[in-house]
Amino acid sequence: MNYFDTLSHKEFRAEFYKRMREHARREEIPILSAECARFLSQLIRISRAENVLEIGTAIGYSALKMADAGASRVVSVERSQALCEKARAYVKEHGEANVEIVCADATRLDPATLKGPFDFLFIDAAKAQYGAFFDRYGEHVAKGGLIVIDNVLFQGMNLEQETNKNIRQLIRKIDRFNRDVMHRDEYDCAVHPLGDGLMVCVKKE
Ligand SMILES: C[S@@+](CC[C@H](N)C(=O)[O-])C[C@H]1O[C@@H](n2cnc3c(N)ncnc32)[C@H](O)[C@@H]1O
Repeated sequence: MNYFDTLSHKEFRAEFYKRMREHARREEIPILSAECARFLSQLIRISRAENVLEIGTAIGYSALKMADAGASRVVSVERSQALCEKARAYVKEHGEANVEIVCADATRLDPATLKGPFDFLFIDAAKAQYGAFFDRYGEHVAKGGLIVIDNVLFQGMNLEQETNKNIRQLIRKIDRFNRDVMHRDEYDCAVHPLGDGLMVCVKKE
């Protein structure tokens, strides 16, 4: 258990989320760290986000956290059928969250079927596809809305220390994505050094 886990013990539905975290750890399913989940919840509260879209559900941990933080509807896209079923079971057990799990490959899904526009988009799926997700779903975020992307400082973005060729390629892709998005006039983006790096972009009015 890390330091942030020990700080989170008073959170609403503590036992439920602890069980989800243990499930993820046991089955080696990557989910948001405790500190990133708290930050995401704060962003939902501060922005008063209502209609949220998430790309990358896993077992539904961050989707449920965003619903508990006040989002009235969370649509979450996951390509693994097995994970969709696990996430749906947790949504059912939670009982109070309006979370819809869409089981599909987000690189192919037609965003028009998701009933946007959304005021909050959280991208937490295949890192090599970040640019594709941002372009495809960013169009369906309302002006003034937020786009949050996880893992933008993957492996510390350290090409010198990384010896694995695939990881080096992935770091280069994430670097291109970061530079491209940070220079877009329609967005105001900042990178926060939480977890593996979270980028928060505001779609300008
Ligand atoms: C890091 S996990 C998501 C964790 C989740 N957001 C959380 O914190 O609770 C990434 C998930 O994205 C899914 N994924 C990867 N590529 C995808 C794609 N093209 N379409 C939909 N889901 C995808 C993976 O199957 C995986 O479950």
